[in-house]
Amino acid sequence: MPVLTIVGALWGDEGKGKVTDAVNEEADLIVKTNGGANAGTTYVVGDKQVILHLLPSGVLRKKRSLLAQNIVMRPELLCKELEEFNWDVDLGIDPRLHVTLPYHLALDYAREKAADIKAKGDNKTSGGAIGTTLSGIGPTYEQQKSRAGIRFCDLCGDETKLKAKVKSNYEYVKGIISQLGLEMVMPDRKIIEGKYIIEDVPLTLEQCEELAVESGKKLKKYMADVSSEVYDAVKAGKKVVLQGAQGTLLDIAFGNYPKVTSSDVRAPAVYTAVGIPAFPMKVVGIVKAYPTKVGSGPVVTCLDCQKWPVDESVSDPVAKLIRGRGKEFGATTGRARRVGWPDMVVLKYSQQLNGFTDIALTRFDLLCDINPLKVCTAYEIDGKTTDKYPGWDLDALARAKPVYTEIEGFPDISNVRKYEDLPSGAKKFVELIEKTTGAPVSIISVGPERNQTIFRDFKAFE
Ligand code: IMP
Repeated sequence: MPVLTIVGALWGDEGKGKVTDAVNEEADLIVKTNGGANAGTTYVVGDKQVILHLLPSGVLRKKRSLLAQNIVMRPELLCKELEEFNWDVDLGIDPRLHVTLPYHLALDYAREKAADIKAKGDNKTSGGAIGTTLSGIGPTYEQQKSRAGIRFCDLCGDETKLKAKVKSNYEYVKGIISQLGLEMVMPDRKIIEGKYIIEDVPLTLEQCEELAVESGKKLKKYMADVSSEVYDAVKAGKKVVLQGAQGTLLDIAFGNYPKVTSSDVRAPAVYTAVGIPAFPMKVVGIVKAYPTKVGSGPVVTCLDCQKWPVDESVSDPVAKLIRGRGKEFGATTGRARRVGWPDMVVLKYSQQLNGFTDIALTRFDLLCDINPLKVCTAYEIDGKTTDKYPGWDLDALARAKPVYTEIEGFPDISNVRKYEDLPSGAKKFVELIEKTTGAPVSIISVGPERNQTIFRDFKAFE
């Protein structure tokens, strides 16, 4: 199959970067399909760590890299990333893609503040702030749907028309923010002495206009009809990687709504995201050995008392251990991620929504020396046991109690390169994932380096 899609199976941050980079080696074309500057993907290239927020990972291997229409793009951030590559990347940006401007961030920020005030700190279930990345994601997709948004072709088009659109959207957002009783300010995120702090920065219309006009001029040369380009490439038998962002449980429709992002995350959504027919494709689901979650919303196997933001004084020692080992702090925001025991109920749901043909198990080495390992195989909700995940019902998920099975722990596996050499507890864990999903675990990552990977008969494009 010439098309391979990479999708996060859980709540994002599954380690998609490493797997994407591995399959990119063989690819001709790499396309990012959804999300925006909310996702930061970490890549390890030699002894250097590179975090990309907007550029597709193909740029690291100097391959043709595309941003599909379903991406929401912050032009000033893309310019900054391009500067780091001296603007020397083979990049194509779909003209239909929507642009995130500073007033989108201001609205995202205002809504989160207002929700927090209303919820008075109770954000366990469907109430309270979402804990967004404050990157303006929701407001940008919202304006796409209301047909008031600014597309990449508008950003690079007539300056007078562009300014008129910016002005009208700025005024619209200002009106909503003032109805909330708040000011038109941007969030400036900082980490000071280990603490996540947000400061208010005033925002003017002139700043938004200038940013739009200037970035449009710089980025215009990258405009490309991504939909046609991918179609032609597949028809010509080229190898295409579709790189998804976030994770299935953050999907706008099938995730834990409203504690979700605003794009379609599932594998079948890539056809619409890119604008291609349903070509046969390989779907690699990235499953982190343990789930993590940033932002609020229920995680049934959570070891951090469902507390958001994380309060380590009430966290289980296993959560602290794994968070420390895995440096589980957001690549975009620096916020600590909640950690839980592996959950097969969620994984089964994710399989049903995506149809994974292969599983890539990541960060497996970080589960070593935890004995016994607990794995959730069912939930008890109101006295009934079930292995069906009620993804839409956050209150039921908050009441759900995990039913665990125990697996013997295993020692350090970071030097293992063949499946046969894994200890028996580790193999049992892999077998449980295969039984749950019905898909082979064909890639196992046992460390951050490119060579710390076990491939089991994995052919990226066959
Ligand atoms: P937004 O996408 O910034 O609107 O955030 C909505 C929810 O999705 C919040 O809980 C975020 O923490 C979460 N989220 C967004 N992007 C990512 C990601 O790349 N990894 C993990 N969580 C994410």
